Amino acid sequence: AIPVIIDCDPGIDDVMALTLAFAHPELEIKLITTEAGNQTQAKTVANALAFASYLGQNIEVAKGLENPMFRELEIADAVHGDNGLGNVEFPEPTLKMSERTAIDAMKQVLLESAEPVIIIATGPLTNLGALLFTHPEVKQKIKFISYMGGAAVGGNMSPTAEFNVYVDPHAADLVFRSGVPIVMSGLDVTHKAFVSMKELQDIENIGTDFALKVVKMLSFYIKEARQTAFHTPDFEKSIRLHDLCAVSYVLTPELFEGDDCFVQIETDGRLTAGTTVVDYAQRSGKPANVKVLHTVDRTKFVAQFVDAIKKMSQL
Ligand code: BDR
Ligand code: CA
Repeated sequence: AIPVIIDCDPGIDDVMALTLAFAHPELEIKLITTEAGNQTQAKTVANALAFASYLGQNIEVAKGLENPMFRELEIADAVHGDNGLGNVEFPEPTLKMSERTAIDAMKQVLLESAEPVIIIATGPLTNLGALLFTHPEVKQKIKFISYMGGAAVGGNMSPTAEFNVYVDPHAADLVFRSGVPIVMSGLDVTHKAFVSMKELQDIENIGTDFALKVVKMLSFYIKEARQTAFHTPDFEKSIRLHDLCAVSYVLTPELFEGDDCFVQIETDGRLTAGTTVVDYAQRSGKPANVKVLHTVDRTKFVAQFVDAIKKMSQL
């Protein structure tokens, strides 16, 4: 099995990403940690506990930092709802929150692991930035970070900044400068990783309680749809599963294409704070630190997601 840690801010597409990870026993999920992002830390940790419990998982869930490093927290309640999950309710969790903090738990899990661990990160990078800065000895235990965030072209929070990087650009800067290899599922690829209305209907036809909850969450999440730098046709009708890309890449990298580039984070730009500055033209002369994904085989990606919903429905 491939050892992974999942750092997330659930978040509708974050729980879709968790679904895909839970459905694949070839991933050994050693730990889930939570970020403040789509909602407050209190709500994202509660959602991770409730969702993992609902799908019968027995995984440590550790609470992360409450706030970005320097900026005020900006949440995405318009996109993810007051409860962070499109106001879809899950039963009281059977899992209890870990007694370890996210950073302590990550550190210990990494140092104790015999093999290098892949970190799947689908929220702002506050925990990971703090971890790598304070405990650099863990770096050698991280195989790579599969990260949903950033964009080579265009933003969804500002004209050039993607939400996760925008929320805590200073943390992202620490991670991108850490020397740990990063695979970036930015908006360039995640805008191509959508579920169509017809596919939403296919999910509804599965008919289980879980499938219907997924449809309710995704129907709420359609509010996220907006035009992109790539002139996506029918963009109002495509539900982007951003965070799912970060898990799918770990399972099936062959579904994706990307370029190795040197990427830096703009922390304080007058117009561009939170932008991932991708040096496609190699003007910096610096070695690549990030694989920037730009293409996904959408048909196979959606089939993988639908299979995961079916599988997790049988529990
Ligand atoms: C990212 O922002 C969040 O709202 C989503 O969960 C995803 O991680 C997309 O920009
Ligand atoms: Ca997220």
